[in-house]
Amino acid sequence: MKMWSGRFQQPLDPAFELWQRSFPFDHRLLPFELEASLAHARALEHAGVLSSEELAEIVRGLEQIGARAQSDPTFLNDDEAEDVHHFVEKELAALIGATGYKLHSGRSRNEQIATDLRLYVRSTIDQLQVLLADLVETIVGRAEKAGTVAMPAYTHAQRAEPVLVAHWLLAYVEMFLRDADRLADCRVRLNVCPLGSGAVSGATLAIDRGAMAADLGFDAPTANSIDATNDRDFVLEFVQALSVMSVHLSRWAEEMILFSTQEYGFVVLPEAYSTGSSAMPQKKNADLLELIRGKAGRVIGAATTLLMTVKGLPLAYNKDLQETQEPLFDVAQTILAILPLATGWMRAVEFHLAQMQAATESGFMNAWAAATYLVERGVASRQAHEAVGKAVRLCVERGCELQELRLNDLQGVHGAFDSGIFAALRLESVLAIHDVDGGTAPKRVKQAIQRAEQRIAHLRGEVHADA
Ligand code: ARG
Repeated sequence: MKMWSGRFQQPLDPAFELWQRSFPFDHRLLPFELEASLAHARALEHAGVLSSEELAEIVRGLEQIGARAQSDPTFLNDDEAEDVHHFVEKELAALIGATGYKLHSGRSRNEQIATDLRLYVRSTIDQLQVLLADLVETIVGRAEKAGTVAMPAYTHAQRAEPVLVAHWLLAYVEMFLRDADRLADCRVRLNVCPLGSGAVSGATLAIDRGAMAADLGFDAPTANSIDATNDRDFVLEFVQALSVMSVHLSRWAEEMILFSTQEYGFVVLPEAYSTGSSAMPQKKNADLLELIRGKAGRVIGAATTLLMTVKGLPLAYNKDLQETQEPLFDVAQTILAILPLATGWMRAVEFHLAQMQAATESGFMNAWAAATYLVERGVASRQAHEAVGKAVRLCVERGCELQELRLNDLQGVHGAFDSGIFAALRLESVLAIHDVDGGTAPKRVKQAIQRAEQRIAHLRGEVHADA
């Protein structure tokens, strides 16, 4: 039985009928639809609309639908169901008869879909937080293992200053922890319950909205029925948070790809996550990284699709909103699949630590340290910069590094240089002077690792239990 045939005299055009259905994709909301329906049924009984026997029948029916969906994948091949709400109503009536049709008393699909989507996003956030914690924990583990080995840090893709490999890896930890933060923040705002909002004006039966909200683990009922039935901000926010995450993932992937080229030779691609070429026998390609980089386009595209879909919609529910589901599901599935693969890659990758460290020996990455040496001896920083710049010029002409100049060459560019400069130009000294919170001095990096570990433990502690 259709959910709305009474006022129609003519059947739907069959092509239109097929085309407007959302069940082919919204079937994935079934667990949430059942959960929300249970809460509604309990509220109906409380309001005296259902007897306790009817409630028991409905509960049994909903549970059976859930169990069958788990055990029988063909159960969802239904070419009659218009959407997940219709599917449940049909199946419930098939299982328990006419009482099944009482479940819809006092509610609208508009509040149901708004609720199901909130539950879906909430549960996906909880899963993503666990996967993010695994990823950052793995990166921190690799940082710890890299010890005090150094590598060049780049600005403008040019060698800039040496940093610890661990410090470089911890930069990604910061990005991914911010992503976790953004998701947590999105979760706080989405965690209110639209049930009881009806189609647009609020329920017509005396159902306890607070009880339904509490039943479903929401913090409170939504405040305005017009807003609640059409609000999809939480979908936009969630997908935007994942767009930022996909940008982080694409940057991570890009840098690993670059560093795996023969030109850098810092990263040895793990075979388990690479593929060969059908033509060139020598090739080992970074397919996992390239696909992750590529998926960012799809996620960002979905974020744009969602904004365009809701832009200019008048209040309240409009069927356009059904179009928000597929981009949402696609992005969620995309990122849920990427994170464990990225973690697996991070676990398996081999860093060529010797080559990374060797790369710090050229490119004048101790030039700022040389200028600092002068500043510490009272030279104004602009003059120090100029003097060291001249020393670099001399090196470029002679094809050598700063530490290979003679003391009198250095004194030729500035009289404040003395024999202590050669110790100051050594890699360990250069690293050690970056001795500020958040800097690359080895003891600071050690602290940063400890702090990251605490933040991961905190993140795991915050993750909601059913994830
Ligand atoms: N399938 C619909 C959607 O996803 C459910 C809500 C339908 N509401 C309605 N008034 N037709 O938006």
